[in-house]
Amino acid sequence: MSRRAAETFLEAAERNIRGKGRFTVALSGGKTPEMFYELLGAEYADKIEWSKVHVFWGDERCVPPESPESNYNMAARALLSKIKIPDKNIHRIKGEDEPTSAAIAYEEELRAHFGLKAGEPPAFDLVLLGLGKDGHTLSIFPATKTGFEEEERLVIDTYVEKKKARRVTMTLKTVNSASIALFLVSGKEKAGILREVLRGTEEACPARMVRPGKLIWLVDKDAASRL
Ligand code: 6PG
Repeated sequence: MSRRAAETFLEAAERNIRGKGRFTVALSGGKTPEMFYELLGAEYADKIEWSKVHVFWGDERCVPPESPESNYNMAARALLSKIKIPDKNIHRIKGEDEPTSAAIAYEEELRAHFGLKAGEPPAFDLVLLGLGKDGHTLSIFPATKTGFEEEERLVIDTYVEKKKARRVTMTLKTVNSASIALFLVSGKEKAGILREVLRGTEEACPARMVRPGKLIWLVDKDAASRL
């Protein structure tokens, strides 16, 4: 799965750098993508023109960048510290800042990078996503419904009751304007929710509301065991 994800990442990076001189990707957090990031950092460090790659995050925990909880921290250890990518190309969500202002600042950073007019969503070349056991993705959770109906903002801050934690997350509006969204799902504990998302009818499931230009599911055998 990580190998397929790395090859998909490489193909999208080469196509966009060839086509428009840059590749803009939003990384996902959690545990699932770590092996994929390590593979990119180990075997693809010299295969991609990282100076033309811009890295964003789909969401972030409201913790400092050095926290083991930080999605930035995981990607920095597994990938960013292994490749020659300019600091200015790493667009971190400031988890250490007050969440609402961090969300506003991140939205401004998106607008500046993509040169967006008011109300215009960013067209990421690739957004990486994970799937929570309750059907959440990014930090859009079924229980809180925050982010479901958001039509205006590209980035919001939210309080996640079940994690007793605040998060900053891209909204579905932002993800759904991407060219490609790629879910990585691994492990038996995800088999039930993956079946629900791909075969079920539960509308209030954030992962089922992801409708980008192209949607790719990369899942391992255990996660696919109930399909
Ligand atoms: C996060 C992610 C979240 C994650 C899922 C799956 O910040 O944790 O944005 O949406 O992708 O919870 O997490 P695992 O990969 O750890 O199972």
